[in-house]
Amino acid sequence: MDERVVKFKETAAFILAKIRGEKPETAIILGSGLGRLAEQIEDPVIIPYAGIPHFVHSTAIGHKGNLICGTLGGKKVLAMQGRFHYYEGYSMQEVTYPVRAMYFAGIKNLFVSNAAGGVNYDYKVGDLMIIRDHINLLPNPLIGKNVEEIGPRFPDMTRPYDLSLIQLAETVAAEHHIRLQKGVYLGGTGPTYETPAEYRFFRLAGADAVGMSTVPEVIVARHCGLRVFGMSVITNEAHEFPLDYVNDGDDVIKAADKAAGVMSMLFTKMIERL
Ligand code: HPA
Repeated sequence: MDERVVKFKETAAFILAKIRGEKPETAIILGSGLGRLAEQIEDPVIIPYAGIPHFVHSTAIGHKGNLICGTLGGKKVLAMQGRFHYYEGYSMQEVTYPVRAMYFAGIKNLFVSNAAGGVNYDYKVGDLMIIRDHINLLPNPLIGKNVEEIGPRFPDMTRPYDLSLIQLAETVAAEHHIRLQKGVYLGGTGPTYETPAEYRFFRLAGADAVGMSTVPEVIVARHCGLRVFGMSVITNEAHEFPLDYVNDGDDVIKAADKAAGVMSMLFTKMIERL
């Protein structure tokens, strides 16, 4: 067996032992400022990343660093309160490690969320955007020897975000009068926010929102065949000619935190109907 698989299986076995053999089918990755969803998980078993074999620690602001196992929308879930970013200095293998470990723990669906800058001029701070596609400007996490036990050397990326989950999100949103945007997320390395010229470049390239995460996790999830749903919270708007405006990490977290309640409700109602 590939030695990487041995580690994934050790992590998965550790998590499953903590939840006494429950079989979570859905994992949720909570982005910057979005960790509050975890508070709605019933009968939570909270496992700090530091205590999980082969996990690394999260240092980003707005990220707590706990795996929360429990029930959401009547279903067993694993929720990552905080993720690992390439800009923190982790390798792409470390960034994506939890997704593969959770795959070996038996999950079938992955819900990913993030705080993102609005590149599309129609987007306003606080908007929620269904990620319908992405552009990857981070190193590809599948570079290197392929893990044959997990997936193919050249994975298809025609439909990275599951169409039936997108439809479900739109149905739930319509029922609860939640306005949703739907667009393309561009994942860059960060940690700098974009220059005005970069925001313009990304808009011309077809991006609607930009952030520093998510895409690596989605690539790895698709490689192992998980169904993926992605959502961005628009926390700041691109400015063409900024005179007195700056992007600020604390403002991003505040904006994400404000929208976290609606996103949590949407995720919960979706998971209920899976
Ligand atoms: N750019 C990149 N990442 C981000 C942004 C942004 O404008 N906002 C929140 N995360």
